[in-house]
Amino acid sequence: MNIRCIDADDAEAFSALRREVIRDNPVSMGLTYEEELSRTIENFRAQLSFSQPNVMLGNFVDGELAATAAVGLTSKFPSSRHKMVMWGVFTSPRFRRRGLSREVVESAIRHAFNNNVNRVNLQVYVPNNPAIMLYKSIGFVEYGIEPEAVHISGQYHDGVLMTLAKS
Ligand SMILES: CC(C)(COP(=O)(O)OP(=O)(O)OC[C@H]1O[C@@H](n2cnc3c(N)ncnc32)[C@H](O)[C@@H]1OP(=O)(O)O)[C@@H](O)C(=O)NCCC(=O)NCCS
Repeated sequence: MNIRCIDADDAEAFSALRREVIRDNPVSMGLTYEEELSRTIENFRAQLSFSQPNVMLGNFVDGELAATAAVGLTSKFPSSRHKMVMWGVFTSPRFRRRGLSREVVESAIRHAFNNNVNRVNLQVYVPNNPAIMLYKSIGFVEYGIEPEAVHISGQYHDGVLMTLAKS
């Protein structure tokens, strides 16, 4: 396992990985490749400038960023301090089915649960059987659906809402 926190210095690698994943399957990421191309490296530097406990973890293969997973608080107020949203879960198509996502997702969840968080929520744009299977195998359960969550290439895609409680 070669996992570490990624930050603003990783913005170029993060952007390259995102472009590779979105070119392969835009629906899984909830935006089109053209929309992704409009995002600048400065955007990503800002997005990756986290303050604890928010974090993005990267899983590296031979020094290359191959998979990521992030967790973040949804509000600055104590009333929502018990939960985090998981986002930015993806693996380069060149490195799939090697367990990289499971490792990095489980590490991000451990980080959340070690930081006074007792619930992690996420959304999956469907169809996306690989992601649903990944999350279910970790213990996430479905709790709802956002109808027509994204509109890509003339088609609407629902968002499946999933949640995992600290055991
Ligand atoms: C979903 C995704 C992150 C999985 O990444 P990965 O590194 O290939 O996943 P892993 O090798 O760690 O597999 C972990 C589990 O995910 C599930 N899984 C992964 N790929 C799968 C597939 N093609 N079909 C069915 N289940 C799959 C399995 O449960 C697998 O466990 P197993 O190998 O013991 O059967 C990857 O396919 C991806 O990047 N997809 C596009 C982006 C995306 O959908 N992100 C999620 C947004 S919510």
